Amino acid sequence: MKSRTKIVGIVISAIAAISVAALMAWLFSLEGTKGLAQWGWSKVFIAIGALGILPLALCLAGLSRPRMEASKASALLLVSATAIASLSIIVSLGLFGFIWTKAHSAAPSIPAMGLVDPGKAIAIADSSGGAGGTLHIALSSDPHWSADTSNGPARLAILKGVAADKPARDAFFILGDNVQTGMNLAGWEAEANDIASNLPSTPVRALLGNHDAIIDGQVHYARYFFPKGFTSDSGSPYWYSIDAGPARIIVLDLLWGADSFGSAQRAWLERTLSAVPADRRVIVLSHCFFASSGYMDGTQPWFDHYGTLAEVAPILERHRVDLVVSGHNHYMEFLDRNGVNYATIGTMGGIPDPVPTHVSPFSKWFARGLYGWLDLDVTAKGTALSFKDHTGKTVHTEYVAAKR
Ligand SMILES: [Fe+2]
Repeated sequence: MKSRTKIVGIVISAIAAISVAALMAWLFSLEGTKGLAQWGWSKVFIAIGALGILPLALCLAGLSRPRMEASKASALLLVSATAIASLSIIVSLGLFGFIWTKAHSAAPSIPAMGLVDPGKAIAIADSSGGAGGTLHIALSSDPHWSADTSNGPARLAILKGVAADKPARDAFFILGDNVQTGMNLAGWEAEANDIASNLPSTPVRALLGNHDAIIDGQVHYARYFFPKGFTSDSGSPYWYSIDAGPARIIVLDLLWGADSFGSAQRAWLERTLSAVPADRRVIVLSHCFFASSGYMDGTQPWFDHYGTLAEVAPILERHRVDLVVSGHNHYMEFLDRNGVNYATIGTMGGIPDPVPTHVSPFSKWFARGLYGWLDLDVTAKGTALSFKDHTGKTVHTEYVAAKR
């Protein structure tokens, strides 16, 4: 075997390994990739990783054969390594270029939306109801703009319904999965146009969901919902607390589960909950649910979330938060677990999830197949919940008395 074949094989295999390692490091530095790997895409990431390792392994096998100079097998291994390494370089550069180009493409302009800046308090219009007045907010989740399977008319009806809500809402929260695939611009454009046209005077705060993050969708998210000049008490655009009259609203970064709940967010949450005055109601918002009815997603349970219940719920229980509202599951549900109430409202247009095969033992009320939103009317004494369908009809009410 010629030494040139050896050198070319080794150099190209090394470049391939570096290219794939750099791609993987970039992918896993992005919001949501760790969860994506845990929830169904593990084979894709293993295949990409193998493209980086295989050429080096073939090189080593070729170079370690006895009487290497004369070995046809060694030459075959090194030529194979060169061929696969060339493919690996093309694939890793191509994937990076494809994702980067899509995720960083920008619309010529973004329509003017009234947004809640997490760094500023939500203005409370209703001064009745005791200390701090009454906070009126609406919440829904999982509209999945740009998904063929989502219900566009129901989504628009919800925006119009929130705009016409009585009493008027101080803010509208969309708890993630704004779009089907975050790197595609089209969904974000459609969402912004619909909000600007149908909900012109209610400030909106959209959270990042697992679909929004796919892949590098955080760039579009920031342009549309956390633009330059916005701030937060945590320094993160994904988790923060907002002052809201009689309540403190705490937004958590939980995309697929607790995979995005790192030590910094945990320490910030403990600090923040400890500092909330006792006369404030604590409303926690997240994309991923905690307690919930659901079904099996392949081999993994898509109900009573093993990650968020184990990693985050004990903190919420210890600090006696009043209510946790989430999406991720495309249901409406109200639950009570270890002294904390949970509401699921993943019904802003995404295709309804299957009929649950697992009914959560903590469930108090459940509805599937509806589209709609949740109104919260919060005073220092407690929180009234009204689950509404997309026509504005109230389908269920609850009241959560102050817990702290
Ligand atoms: Fe969703």
